[in-house]
Amino acid sequence: MSETDQSIVVEGVPTFPEVLQHVVRPTDPVIGTVVESRVCTKSKKAAGFVRHIEIDVSGTALEGAWVSGQSFGVVPPGLTEAGKPHKLRLYSIAAPTGGETGDGTIISTTLKRVVDEHWEDHTLFQGLCSNYLADLQIGDKVHLTGPAGKRFLLPADPAAHNYIFIATGTGIAPFRSMLGDLVKLGMPSRVDLIMGVPYESDLLYDEDFKELAEDYPGRFHYRTAISRHTTPGQPKKLYVQGRLQEDASVLVEILKSDRTLIYICGIAGMELGILQTLAGVLDPKSLSQYLTIDPEIGTDPGRWNRKMIPRTLKPTKRMFLEVY
Ligand code: A2P
Repeated sequence: MSETDQSIVVEGVPTFPEVLQHVVRPTDPVIGTVVESRVCTKSKKAAGFVRHIEIDVSGTALEGAWVSGQSFGVVPPGLTEAGKPHKLRLYSIAAPTGGETGDGTIISTTLKRVVDEHWEDHTLFQGLCSNYLADLQIGDKVHLTGPAGKRFLLPADPAAHNYIFIATGTGIAPFRSMLGDLVKLGMPSRVDLIMGVPYESDLLYDEDFKELAEDYPGRFHYRTAISRHTTPGQPKKLYVQGRLQEDASVLVEILKSDRTLIYICGIAGMELGILQTLAGVLDPKSLSQYLTIDPEIGTDPGRWNRKMIPRTLKPTKRMFLEVY
């Protein structure tokens, strides 16, 4: 960080609650039981296979141990080609603090099957853990660790902030989780959720978010960005940053407020586009609430590139990125 950066004071920086981490370690995972596995895309015929999976962890050290925004680990069964146990995979928790039933017993995630081709010989590639989890049936056992994560959380005083949540695909999981907590508090703040998917049929938990928008008019705003086709309400194809741009007349006012926090979760490629769009719609002072720009790279967003994140394009403590 340069000396110039250190002199920048960002108002409205939140404090975070102390949370438990790594209560259950990979060397000694707990065993949970699958109690729910359902398709959670808008259409059952969506191009991507995405499931909402709930796991009962009652009586284990994971029970009640997580807060919204954290992740848990899954240890897939079997051994690697080298004969070693598989490494754990982290999944964002989709359930609020207290879980699906409020008593800390049911953890959940949003899971997409990874199905692809090996580029070298065009044979089928199947993600090991995502397909293992998506195949599980009600009653099946699964080895779990966690919780993990202490940055991508709601602040200690959720009511003190407004939120812009930006997700693509299964990056929606932590926002479903945090929204569950905000609902329990009676939705004390304004939340704008921007959700990006390839096709309208891929929208996740779509009905739930629409209901939430009806339940909390003026508080919860559900904004979608469909990238591969137009819709009656969306006359051109949009990425999430395109939706930010389209809705700027409303969102800029929210972004200018020193109460607002931005959370971004999903595909890594969106980071740069979002930062460039923020730079395009915000005046320099408002932008500096979210982004510290090294003077050496200049303020022309068209000249920025992904490698500049997070060193020379450095998110402040008012913007949180969880991309993969
Ligand atoms: P596309 O694949 O049409 O380029 P999913 O996880 O369900 O595949 O959704 C990821 C979403 O993020 C898709 O709509 C995808 O669009 C979109 N996406 C891909 N690259 C970027 C990018 N650089 N910036 C923003 N969104 C992106």
